[in-house]
Amino acid sequence: MAVRLSDQFLEQLRDRTDIEELIGEYVQLKRAGRLSKGLCPFHSEKTPSFVVYPDTRSYYCFGCTKGGDAITFIRDIENLDYIEAVKFLADRAGLQMPDEQYDDSLIKKKKRMLELNKEAARFFHEFMKTPQGKPGLDYWLGRGLSPKTITHFGLGYAPDGWEFMNHMRDKGYSNQELFEADLARKNDKGNYYANFRNRVMTPIIDLHGNVLGFGGRVLDNTKPKYINTKDTFVYKKGLHLFALNFAKSANEDSLILCEGYMDVIALHQAGFTNAVAGLGTALTDEQVRLISHYCSKVYLSYDSDEAGRTALKRSIDKLSKTNLAIHPLVYTEAKDPDEIIKKFGPERWKAILSGAMNETEYKLALCKEGLDISTDDGRAKYLRKAVPVLVPLGAIEKDIYASRLSEETSVTKEAIMARVNSLSRQQSGRYNKTDFAELSKEMNRRKGTTVAKVEGQRGLKAEETLLVTLKNNPDFLKKIEGDLTPEDFVSDVCRHIYSVFRERINSGQSIELDFLSSELSGEEMSVLVRMQNSEFDVTNTLEEAKTCVKILKDERRKREQPKGADLTDEDLSNLFKKEKN
Ligand code: GTP
Ligand code: MN
Repeated sequence: MAVRLSDQFLEQLRDRTDIEELIGEYVQLKRAGRLSKGLCPFHSEKTPSFVVYPDTRSYYCFGCTKGGDAITFIRDIENLDYIEAVKFLADRAGLQMPDEQYDDSLIKKKKRMLELNKEAARFFHEFMKTPQGKPGLDYWLGRGLSPKTITHFGLGYAPDGWEFMNHMRDKGYSNQELFEADLARKNDKGNYYANFRNRVMTPIIDLHGNVLGFGGRVLDNTKPKYINTKDTFVYKKGLHLFALNFAKSANEDSLILCEGYMDVIALHQAGFTNAVAGLGTALTDEQVRLISHYCSKVYLSYDSDEAGRTALKRSIDKLSKTNLAIHPLVYTEAKDPDEIIKKFGPERWKAILSGAMNETEYKLALCKEGLDISTDDGRAKYLRKAVPVLVPLGAIEKDIYASRLSEETSVTKEAIMARVNSLSRQQSGRYNKTDFAELSKEMNRRKGTTVAKVEGQRGLKAEETLLVTLKNNPDFLKKIEGDLTPEDFVSDVCRHIYSVFRERINSGQSIELDFLSSELSGEEMSVLVRMQNSEFDVTNTLEEAKTCVKILKDERRKREQPKGADLTDEDLSNLFKKEKN
């Protein structure tokens, strides 16, 4: 990486950043002795396996094995690259970024694209208000939006002619820049033209008020109905939710997740300002994380067609892994929220929300679908599908739904509970034995390991012990490095960590975690943090370090020694000669 910030600056940054407080802004942490625990923000879970170690200014998740320092955390959670993450933390700490050379071309490029997008949004909005823009304004008004809503969402209209391209070029943006922002396209002859023409425009705005891209809809029924900005430098669809910038300040502990921009806009206008929409992808982990961050309850509004139902099922599977309460909305009187509000008014929508099924009710309703439960056969099939739905529930919920099932099917509650409990027992044998610490060690090892597992075990233990010892006692390096080369290491990860240690120690630099994240990958940081915080015995003696080196050498010799079966006669005789010497 071209980035090289001075240790002095990183030290200042470290001193002004309290990692527990920083992570506490994203994760609810609970102090437990010397460490803090919480639900991991990087994967979906219901019980905490994410640990913050204030002493070593690090964190580690035993579920997904992500770990690192403050910079790594911000890099991952805010989706920034290294230098952007440092800048983020510096701003937060009130520190000036150093003047020394670092490569900020990417930051500049992103900033410029955001300015370009904002200018485009301003143009579309203003153009809509001119006489030529009347079709656009009329379209929005015709869909029942008030001028206030139109302004609030910054809606606009893209002309059919060259006005947009000309305007942007007058403002100093090149064709290439417009192309990279997906606002212009190129034809076979290499000429550029506007991507959005004769379409009403909805800007997609992030939590900081940046314009990331646009959704452009035709004014009639021609296809394609929507053109959406594709992913660019500044826009990754999967990381955002439309209208979350408004919804986050709605005074609700819930969000309504819809499919379309129009649904969201109509709902906001009707007073449901906690509505958001995905941006044309299946629900992603990052979006789930965003949702959990802002509320504890999510209503899901998907179209009732086949595609909508499939998407709904997938979203429920994802959301089930969190502590969010899930409420799928089912309605048949209209296609989507926009239509419901228009046809029946906000009151109807309110009733739909308050009558919403919870996750279990919804799943049970699905089990019953297509079955005639007035017949014995239908009831039996229904129960067979329904029992697994009850298994993951808490005791009280199990009781409630077993009672309901009993009423519906006239099978006794005791019989139903017996089936549920027997299935629970079978499954807990399968799932509860997971020891996260062991699991994560195993996962980390496998990823970075290039040699056969069994043969490598001794080496893996030795290289980890050696690196931890070295981290605690950098002065040991000069006593062992004569014998040791990076090639002696078993895993790629440890090999690279050693190279970085060696280079830094030899040039008099610190190997504290806080200085390493520009040189180590996310995975390498994770492994380092795991090793450093794990309880395995390290005596921190030079003797032990030397023993580890010997083991690594030994293992390498074994690794590189040709296997008996593959040897030619000539090889064998050479080998015997060597051994005699
Ligand atoms: P209206 O007809 O304006 O009410 O649209 P809608 O809000 O009801 O949207 P719809 O349910 O048809 O689609 C939901 C979302 O899917 C839209 O907001 C778009 O993001 C996306 N979408 C719909 N049609 C297209 C299309 O033709 N192309 C692309 N790329 N995306 C589309
Ligand atoms: Mn619609």
